[in-house]
Amino acid sequence: MRLPVRNDECPVHGGPRVAHSTVTETPVITTSGLTKVYESRGRQVTALDGVDLHVREGEVYGVIGQSGAGKSSLIRCVNLLERPTSGTVTVDGVDLTALAGRSRRAGKDLRQARSRIGMVFQHFNLLSSRTVKDNIELPLEILGVPGAERSRRALELLDLVGLADKAKAYPGQLSGGQKQRVGIARALAGNPKVLLSDEATSALDPETTRSILQLLRDLNRQLGLTVLLITHEMDVVKTICDSAALMQRGRIVESGTVSELLATPGSQLAAELFPVSGHSTGPDRTVVDVTFHGEAATQPVISQLSRTYNIDISILGAAMDTVGGRQIGRMRIELPGRYEDNVVPVGFLREQGLQVEVVEEEPEQPGTREPQEHGAAAGTPLLVEEGAK
Ligand SMILES: Nc1ncnc2c1ncn2[C@@H]1O[C@H](COP(=O)(O)OP(=O)(O)OP(=O)(O)O)[C@@H](O)[C@H]1O
Ligand SMILES: [Mg+2]
Repeated sequence: MRLPVRNDECPVHGGPRVAHSTVTETPVITTSGLTKVYESRGRQVTALDGVDLHVREGEVYGVIGQSGAGKSSLIRCVNLLERPTSGTVTVDGVDLTALAGRSRRAGKDLRQARSRIGMVFQHFNLLSSRTVKDNIELPLEILGVPGAERSRRALELLDLVGLADKAKAYPGQLSGGQKQRVGIARALAGNPKVLLSDEATSALDPETTRSILQLLRDLNRQLGLTVLLITHEMDVVKTICDSAALMQRGRIVESGTVSELLATPGSQLAAELFPVSGHSTGPDRTVVDVTFHGEAATQPVISQLSRTYNIDISILGAAMDTVGGRQIGRMRIELPGRYEDNVVPVGFLREQGLQVEVVEEEPEQPGTREPQEHGAAAGTPLLVEEGAK
């Protein structure tokens, strides 16, 4: 899949973006039957229950779910910070579970394989007694990289994340967004193939969140870095992910590229990524959600439908948005008559290449409407509670 090309300047280094990174079909992270059971005070908690995850080279893959769904357990099992109870984890062709062996301490082979996996944390995890530059050098010290080489690499990374002037500052002198940039630079020190991010933007305000997401996207494009990120914010998925998975109670219940999800009738993720609302105005009406993307977005299909079948169409709700870098429109329309009367017009919409979903809903009683918060589609449960953290 070729990603859309952006031709504006890169905020990371001021030069032109290297924009056309390609997602290949090569799997970079694969988990198979991944299970994690924690033993806690004699009780067993199943945090992961047979997770099969496939992340392709060069993509930004988001895992979303409510608090307690198992997201952090998944990411910690992917780099073997947490030992899986069963199942396998393969990163960049190396079976990490096989390398882990039985001992509690990671052996040399596992440490080596892990150096190809960068990790970014919600609370940055910087050492307050070390300068920014020394924080970035830390993983290189552990890998035994000589001093001059460490220093050169740290300065290069600081430049890459836009903090060239902060080398000598201490973490306490930085804003949250700057600390996370240092966290990202440190994660990149070992020249990783993949970057894992556990809620990297959850502690940041919306504007700083946007700039950090943009940085992750730029790094993904410039370095061909594969990013697996965990979040409970749908906006994060919407802004930067090529693919996404929804986790519930330790299982992945939906997954795919953002386009595939949007094209899947009944997808919970699609409804959350792109909500439309609006209630039918009475009984004997057919309410239909129509999603426009690509070519179809430019065709006057609604007026064609109205003229061809001589019917009056009401628009109950509509939205345009950019999801996964693509312009998408969604409209909730109402046709007179029951569904049985509208099979032909609905078929017409499908023939135009539109994604069409008939919305089943109870006709509304006067005065009983619940306020529609978060713009969620009628009847769609919210996946992600506000403030779930
Ligand atoms: N070290 C542990 N010992 C015992 N139980 C644990 C441990 N870590 C996590 N759990 C449990 O495993 C389940 C999944 O936790 P996890 O931290 O993976 O969820 P999460 O999706 O990351 O949630 P959040 O969005 O709140 O970070 C929860 O029920 C949690 O209480
Ligand atoms: Mg978590």
